[in-house]
Formats: sequence, C-alpha cells, structure tokens
Amino acid sequence: MATAGTPSIKGLMRTHHCGELTADDVGTLVTLCGWVNKYRNLGSLHFIDLRDKYGVTQLGFVNFKGNIDELKKCSLESVILATGIVQARPAEAQNANMITGAIEVQVTDLQILSRSDIDSIPFLPFGSVEATEDLRLKYRYLDLRTHKLQEILLLRSRTANKIRSLLVDENFVEVETPILYKSTPEGARDYIVPSRVHPGQVYALPQSPQTLKQLLMIGGTDKYFQICRCFRDEDLRADRQPEFSQVDIEVSFSTQEYMKNLVEKILKKVFDLPATFSLPMMTYKDAMNIYGCDKPDVRFALKQMLVTDVFANSEFSTFANVAKAGGLIKAMFVPESMGQFTRRDTDAFVEVVKPYGGKGVAFYKLSKGERSTGISKFITEEIEKVLFSISEVKGDGTWLFFADNDHTVAHASADALRRNLGHKLNLIGTEKAFLWVYDFPLLEWSEGRYTACHHPFTMPSRDKLDVFMSADHKDANSALRTLTAEAYDVVCNGYEIGGGSIRIYDQAVQDRMFKVLGFTPEETKNQFGFFIEALKYGVPPHGGLAFGLDRLIMILAGTDSIRDVIAFPKTSSASDLMAQAPSRPSEAQLKELHFNWTKS
Ligand code: AMO
Repeated sequence: MATAGTPSIKGLMRTHHCGELTADDVGTLVTLCGWVNKYRNLGSLHFIDLRDKYGVTQLGFVNFKGNIDELKKCSLESVILATGIVQARPAEAQNANMITGAIEVQVTDLQILSRSDIDSIPFLPFGSVEATEDLRLKYRYLDLRTHKLQEILLLRSRTANKIRSLLVDENFVEVETPILYKSTPEGARDYIVPSRVHPGQVYALPQSPQTLKQLLMIGGTDKYFQICRCFRDEDLRADRQPEFSQVDIEVSFSTQEYMKNLVEKILKKVFDLPATFSLPMMTYKDAMNIYGCDKPDVRFALKQMLVTDVFANSEFSTFANVAKAGGLIKAMFVPESMGQFTRRDTDAFVEVVKPYGGKGVAFYKLSKGERSTGISKFITEEIEKVLFSISEVKGDGTWLFFADNDHTVAHASADALRRNLGHKLNLIGTEKAFLWVYDFPLLEWSEGRYTACHHPFTMPSRDKLDVFMSADHKDANSALRTLTAEAYDVVCNGYEIGGGSIRIYDQAVQDRMFKVLGFTPEETKNQFGFFIEALKYGVPPHGGLAFGLDRLIMILAGTDSIRDVIAFPKTSSASDLMAQAPSRPSEAQLKELHFNWTKS
C-alpha cells in the first residue's frame, strides 16, 4: 500500500501517520490519528489497531493515564487521537509483513474524536463479511476507506498529473470549456438542463468538448488539452458511465502521424513502457476480419478467417444459403493444445453469442485426422484442405463457425466467443497489448439514414472527397458506404481507451456532412450555425483525440469495473445510490423552471 510519507505535519493534529513508524522511532513521543480497526481485550492487556490510509499501527495501553473502561467506547470505525511513546514489540509479537510490525505505541492519552455507531453501521470496510455492491455504493464513504479504493484514487490522481505535466512540457495549454452548453453530438442522448431565465429553453451538457476545442483552434490556441467531464445518456456497460472523464486534446496543423507520436509519448509515460515502444497499427477492416471487432484484445491469438466462399457451393445448406444471401461465414480454429471441448461446452456456445444476435455456433472436431461431431458430415476432404490452407495453425483441434446474413452479427458472435475462450482457456497474458486502429468507415447506415461512425466533424478520406460531396445520401447502398475517415482509436487489452480524428475545416464539406446525416438546413443552422459560420473566417487544419481517463485507470489498476476508478460512481441505471440522484425537483423549482409536470 502507499507510503506517501507525511510531507508536512505543521498544523496537523498528528505527528505521524499510521503507516510509517519503525524500530528507528523507538523512544519517540508521537501522536497518531485514525480509525479503530480492531480492539482486543486480553484481560490485563488491551490493544487497538489504529488505521489510516497509509497503514495500521498497534496501540498498547500499559502506561495509559485515563480510565481503561474508556477504551470500550472506542467502537470499530471510531476516529481517535492517541499520544504515546513508540516501543519495540516483544520479539514473538513482531510482524515482519507490516512496515509498523516491529513497534507499538504505548498510549498515555487518548481522545475519541468521533464515535462510530457500531449498532447501525451498514458494513465494516475491513470486516470479514463482504457487503453487496449496492450497499457499498450507498455508503460509498465507508467503501472509500478500503486500501483498494484509496490506492486507485491515488493512481488516478498521479496518472492525471503525469499526463498533464507531459502535455504542459509539450507546450499544450489547459483550457476549461463550458458545461452548460449546446448539443455536441457524439452518438448518445444529451443530458439537458432547463433554463430558469429563458422559459422553455435548455442547455445541453457536453458529450465531449468537441466543437469547443475546434473553436479554440480557430481561435489560435494551437495546442489545447483539458481533463474534462463528459456527459452521455446511453446504455451503460462495465466500461461506461453517464459522466466520465476525458483527457481531451486538439492540435492545429496536425496529422495522424503527429497524433500517433503524441499518444505513444503519453502511453510510455503512463504505462512505463520502454523508449523504443511504438504502437502497432491495424486497419479497421483487418481488425474486423481477424478479430470480429474494432477494439481487439490482441494479448492472445485465436484469429478468425473469412470462409464464406468455401461454403458457397457446399452440401451444408444452412451455410450455402448464408453465402447466397450475401451473408458472412467466419471460422476460428482452436488447436487441441489450446483447448478441447465437451458436449456441454459446445452446447453452451450459443448462450455466448445470443446477446449479439447469433443463432448458434457450428463446429466439428478433428482428432488424429478424423472428423467428428457437429457439422462434420458436411465437411469434405476438399473443404478441410481449403480451411487449413487459410489457417495459420494446423493439427488436431476444433473448428468453430459463425454464419449470419447480417455481417455485424457474424463478426460480433465470433468476437464474443473468442473473448469468452480467451478467459476460459486461460490464454490471456499479463502484458498490456496496444493497437492504433485506423481507416474507420466514415458513415454507417442505421434506421433509414447515415450516421457518423466517429462524429460529424471527422474528415472524410481526402482522396474520395468528390464522392462524399456528390453521392446519394438517401440510398443505403450508395458509394458513401465505402468511404473511410481520417479517424483512429487507441486500444489496450480489448478496451477502446481513446479515439480521435483529423477534422473537417472547410465550410462546404461540413455543411455537406450535416446534410448527409439527415439534418435539414434549418436544423443545421439552429444547432451548429455558430460553428459553421466560424469555418468562414480562417481555419487552421486541425485534429485531435480524447483518452477515456477512467478506462486508462481501469487498465492500470487491473480492474474490470469502471465504478472502481470513480470516487462517486453511478449504477448501471445511472443513479447515485448514496445521494439518491436523480430525484424529483420541488414544486417550487418546477414552477421556476416553467415546467408543468404532473405528479406520478
Ligand atoms: P469518443 O466518443 O471516442 O471521442 O470518446 C473518447 C474516449 O472516451 C471514452 N469514453 C467513455 N468512457 C467512459 N464512459 C463512457 N460512457 C465513455 N464514452 C467514451 C473512451 C473513448 O475512446 N470528441 C471525441 C474525441 C475526438 O475526436 O477528439 C470523443 O469524445 O475511452
């Protein structure tokens, strides 16, 4: 645990913290403050383990001047102040595993600063019974007392400072941008705040400071950064919170190469990587084909292959039909040395792919060259030969297949099972595996219109700008679908830890983007008129990126829940169990905000 030392004790009620006294301090008069972690009454001998964020120190009461019965009032989690002399513990009582394990403080004076109501305390942060997550979130301040959470807060603060100091050294300027603002589309719903002064009007909380940082470039700021809060009303997952922090960066006259170099510098500093570290690059297309997703966990192999053509004319009508319908068939070969599957295992595969729309996982086994089980009867010698000619791995093992008319479902199913097997078969190493994924599609067709894959300010690949400016934006299959963007993501261990792009800086291109995305000229003017106008008055070409700070810390801390790295997180239904937020405003507030809500 952290032993950050006591930088300055002047003015503090204590002389030392609970994690620093050693045999060298024997004979010193000290005052310690902290929480009662343990109380032991051995009849004639009494001990308290006193705890603070730095550690635990044993208190003895042989020289105690007060009434020893007072100790019984020091219930667990009470905060006390104890003064006494540091003494060496008897040899048999020493604990070599604790920094303070060689000593105890023989207390002469004790004050109970704040008594804890042990009868009603919902759980003991250092107790032997583990509280449920909901209870820990409701009483977050109790959970925060644990070393785990204190360590993470420290890690977060130090990491943010490392990044901040690197960027300042690189001549970046930290600028704060408004929270009460206007819609900044990043693909989620906005959180909105009604205005009291302007009846019927709202502010939107920024999903990111995207337009603002671009305006800072137009304003001549050249190199901007901010560690900022973003707000997105979207479905939450283990790595998503409705409000989260970004290390937001924007640079004038930058190229993708500049951004990648900068990201490498930051990653080296944050993850303590060797000076020679460079980010491996992978196109979006390769990431999808080989791993079924755009943020692959490349700590383990298990690559996928595209085998639609192999089955186009096969006897296996299910696959042949998918091929004929323009669908996608992917295969993954698990060599015997990596894992073998029982009937129960293969039956359970369907549950893994179901949440992604997958209807099942076809498979067959190859043992001593003999095919068996699953779809083996449809696999001819010829098909198998082709499969192995594509596969990097050979020998006995299990072939797994993911087929669907919808390519997205085939990719997502293959990705889900690959991740599942990575854990189940223990294939995932402890190293960090980074990737720079680039050449993302510019647009995707969803619910009858095009949406931006990154966001609407991303530059279409410049060699196809003429297609972007002219192709039919109402046609699901127009050439717009084939365009890539100058957008990139930073991936680590299967998490998207950052993303950005080179931006549109031409008014006509930006205008066209809003049109392609289905905004009417009127809507574009109302929502983004100020921004489009700014593009008229001299714009430096610019680009940037934002790291998800919470996800960075998750990886550094080795946790897979984003809630662990946020001091006061929200649940998966976006509520704060401690403060009971959101909550209903008072009638007076509603009236002031010109709302006419009926009570439900
Ligand atoms: P993007 O939307 O990709 O880009 O976000 C950047 C990074 O922020 C993190 N992130 C989240 N973390 C926690 N909870 C969430 N709900 C959440 N959403 C996103 C991810 C992601 O990679 N303005 C652009 C950046 C740019 O183009 O410069 C943006 O916000 O780690």
